[in-house]
Amino acid sequence: MPEEHLRALCEHYYPTIKEIDDLKKETDTVILGHSYIKSNIIYSVADYVGDSYELSKNAMEAKQKRIIFAAVRFMGETAKILSPQKDVLIPGTEAGCTLADSITAEDMLKLKEEYPDYAFLCYINTTAEVKAHCDACVTSSNVYNIVERYPSDKIFFVPDRLMGQNIIDEMKARAVKKDIKIWTGSCYAHEEYDPEMVKALRMKYDDLTVMVHPECSPAVLENADFVGSTSQLYNYVKKKEYGHFLMLTECGLISRIEAEMPERNFVGTCSLCKYMKSNTLENILRVLKNPQPEDYIQIDDEIIKKAQLSINRMFEIAES
Ligand code: 13P
Ligand code: SF4
Repeated sequence: MPEEHLRALCEHYYPTIKEIDDLKKETDTVILGHSYIKSNIIYSVADYVGDSYELSKNAMEAKQKRIIFAAVRFMGETAKILSPQKDVLIPGTEAGCTLADSITAEDMLKLKEEYPDYAFLCYINTTAEVKAHCDACVTSSNVYNIVERYPSDKIFFVPDRLMGQNIIDEMKARAVKKDIKIWTGSCYAHEEYDPEMVKALRMKYDDLTVMVHPECSPAVLENADFVGSTSQLYNYVKKKEYGHFLMLTECGLISRIEAEMPERNFVGTCSLCKYMKSNTLENILRVLKNPQPEDYIQIDDEIIKKAQLSINRMFEIAES
């Protein structure tokens, strides 16, 4: 980027960033940001940046009494479930998620009635109410290990049908025999990737490393060198300095790696998540200065208690 353009950008954002920084201290607030959000937030006011597992732990361990979670609603809800005594606010103006929106508490009640002898495992990309009906939660960084170790040979996984099919394939590869049923949701940003595009790029670049998020389809995963959560993908590329890279996930992660490791050569395309991108510096400032009731995550105490059990079960298995 030309120097004068960079200077103009800094001058444009500086007053907002300075005001956010001052207000953060005055109001005892920590700002968490997912790797998919805009880089002008990541590199200015975010105190922690990571994947959904790491950010849940950051939220729980933060000393501050207030959390601003620049990501999507289900991540803010997870922070509130783990730290009910803290105020959790979300600055995303459209903070949904096609996975979290694909299953309701009513759906869960029907499924549990229909499959009474199954253990219900949910992806963290679910609402607090759905988590409250599940036995354990998983994230993209631990999904395969938790399904393998979970003490039941009948598992119903919600809500991602592509991740669910990837679990079935991975359990076969690990020779783990479990009866696994799956729900019908999907991530609109990850389901689009085409395995033919991966094959074409492999023909073009013989030193290509293909890295994929587990929300992509099984046909895409079949062509991958590495599958992992956003932070696992970040750490993998950090260790591999040479060659060309294709990373099939949301564009924000690739922008982050390009900013921090400019010598890495990325090829191919990436997709955008409009929900993550609805977080802006301007709205973080507004939420800090003048929070409205709808900016706060509010969850019924009973739901919090039940959802806590499923998230704590995940920590227990993931860290044992
Ligand atoms: P990570 O936990 O890998 O960051 O994934 C969250 C997510 O929503 C991916 O689409
Ligand atoms: Fe949800 Fe997909 Fe956006 Fe992740 S990328 S927050 S799964 S819609």
